[in-house]
Amino acid sequence: MSEYLLEMRGITKSFSGVMALDGIDLRVRAGECVGLCGENGAGKSTMMKVLSAVYPYGTWGGVITWEGRELQTASIKESEAAGIVIIHQELMLIPQLSVAENIFLGREPRVLGGMIDFDRMFVDAAKLLASLRMGYINVAMPVSNYAGGEQQLIEIAKALSKNAKLLILDEPTSSLTKNETAILLRLVKDLKARGTACVYISHKLEEIVEIADTVTVIRDGKFVGDAPIAELTTSDIIRMMVGREMNNLFPREEHPIGDVVFEAIGITCIDPENSARKRVDNVSFTLRHGEILGIAGLVGAGRTELVSALFGAYRGPHSGEVRLDGKPINVRTPREAVKHGLCMVPEDRKAHGIVPGLGVGYNITLSVLDDFAQGGLINEAHEFSNIGDAIKKLRIKTASPLLPISNLSGGNQQKAVISKMLEPKPRVLILDEPTRGVDVGAKYEIYKLMFSLVREGMSIIMVSSELPEVMGISDRVLVIGEGELRGDFINDDTLTQERILTAAITPLLRAA
Ligand SMILES: Nc1ncnc2c1ncn2[C@@H]1O[C@H](COP(=O)(O)OP(=O)(O)OP(=O)(O)O)[C@@H](O)[C@H]1O
Ligand SMILES: [Mg+2]
Repeated sequence: MSEYLLEMRGITKSFSGVMALDGIDLRVRAGECVGLCGENGAGKSTMMKVLSAVYPYGTWGGVITWEGRELQTASIKESEAAGIVIIHQELMLIPQLSVAENIFLGREPRVLGGMIDFDRMFVDAAKLLASLRMGYINVAMPVSNYAGGEQQLIEIAKALSKNAKLLILDEPTSSLTKNETAILLRLVKDLKARGTACVYISHKLEEIVEIADTVTVIRDGKFVGDAPIAELTTSDIIRMMVGREMNNLFPREEHPIGDVVFEAIGITCIDPENSARKRVDNVSFTLRHGEILGIAGLVGAGRTELVSALFGAYRGPHSGEVRLDGKPINVRTPREAVKHGLCMVPEDRKAHGIVPGLGVGYNITLSVLDDFAQGGLINEAHEFSNIGDAIKKLRIKTASPLLPISNLSGGNQQKAVISKMLEPKPRVLILDEPTRGVDVGAKYEIYKLMFSLVREGMSIIMVSSELPEVMGISDRVLVIGEGELRGDFINDDTLTQERILTAAITPLLRAA
């Protein structure tokens, strides 16, 4: 018998004539964690959809050998029965259903007569979560009561309850906090110790280095190579991914910075659910012409709330003043913000950034106004003249501008969302976690784009949880902690990650 639990050989898959996978090999030993790396659109998710029979046997080429026998599964159910469980890149939980119902969806315990045995389901779900050190979660609550990160962990609990022999994690940490990420990585290690194998996909190479035993790299649908992690450096993995040496991940360019164009004064945001709690507490700052202002802080510090308030998209009570060119402007809605030349690329592209079923091209030209108009219908198709340019400028990988955006790889969806927000030609562009789920090469392109935009006179506010990114790109760095502005630093040689983190956790002294 082979030493491998899983061997995928020469896997091919095409979508309407376009080869997404062109002969890829992947091997996993029992209890081993394989890091699957590659740029956006390389074919990682597609490869895993082949394995988990999202694309059933017969719709792809090549051979899969599982536990020594050829695997020919026709459905996800069948592949789960074989012990292969996938956790998708986009969350698949049903928000209105309880945690327990989500975990046992389609496999509910039943009493005699066929009714769902809710008591047992709740108890089993609670036991399961407790065994994963998530006992604090109330299994009777709707899943929507929990934050994205917790939902991701619930999804993993659900996968584990299916007795996976091989767990597939497709970018599991892209919406997790550092803490949740640590919990997840610990979980995967626990599983490994119990003999569960996994395929781990992430653009955060430090996670790959921490968790993977071997790494397989693919590029443009082709197999590049695999090796034990011990034999690879991060630079090796990057070189295999992008096909060239990348010595500088942050293409910082000198650019002139002018006068103050934008001012936020005393921005305060009240928690919509708890009027005693301030999510943002009296934050003031300025932004100059041609400046890139990074906003750092821990997840949950209030950065997204702050920028949403500036853009008129904060859902709770808030106050404060926004000035453009020294004059106060009214920004009660995103529509007004855009009219004043203020655009924002939101953190959560699925909820706010894209219309999934609509073509890439339409998504780009779809006016931001319509997008944020609640309950508004998409009234008309916009011309396609700019679309080709936009797709070229950000090198969005799509077979056609008509392809539904949800068919694009995650990182390419993000690029499409950014280009959409450039359509109204804003003066101030707010980017909230712009490179989440984006590969190193595409990150580089997004940074390049940001520099070319500030050269043209735009000013950029970038919220990012990645400190190397904040420090690699920004001219100035604001630090937010617990809703307060706790630091405003020029980004010169004296600025260190340590100084930023210290500022983030050090409360301000207030006059009593
Ligand atoms: N249903 C589909 N129809 C047409 N093309 C598709 C479909 N699904 C994927 N593709 C294309 O196949 C290629 C591989 O996509 P895939 O999602 O596997 O990339 P990925 O490596 O997971 O990227 P990312 O890191 O951005 O998630 C992309 O060019 C994508 O546009
Ligand atoms: Mg993917």
